[in-house]
Amino acid sequence: MKKFYQELDNYIENLEDKKNDYKVLSFIVDELGYLPDETLNYIAKKMDIFPFSLESTIKFYPKLQKARTKNYVQICIGRNCIQSGLKEKLAKLKAEVDFPIEERHCLGRCGKGSVLKINEEYYSYKTLEELEKLLSNLK
Ligand code: FES
Repeated sequence: MKKFYQELDNYIENLEDKKNDYKVLSFIVDELGYLPDETLNYIAKKMDIFPFSLESTIKFYPKLQKARTKNYVQICIGRNCIQSGLKEKLAKLKAEVDFPIEERHCLGRCGKGSVLKINEEYYSYKTLEELEKLLSNLK
């Protein structure tokens, strides 16, 4: 991680616009795959930017928003995937986990069972218990 922060420092120092938080946030996502809190705090101090300003930039760009947490989950609630009780189960799970769970109407994997996507990987599940187990492994 020390090497990463050295590279991050170099990246910021070589920026023409030293306040271009979008470029710096994109650099972090490209390098780490997500935006850890400690790294956001680090660049806020380094770039002399308020943390809420970084959060505003993150909210504006879907690419950054998806990378806000280590795990980004999308669950298909389309007619080929929905199971009885899924909506209630999702409401419960959303309250329990600290990563976003987005409901989608199709993930383009119809016919492969009930489908969810965790970051860039697709998974299928047969029961709601199986779904819960998959998500509990992410906590
Ligand atoms: S309906 Fe679920 S992947 Fe298409």
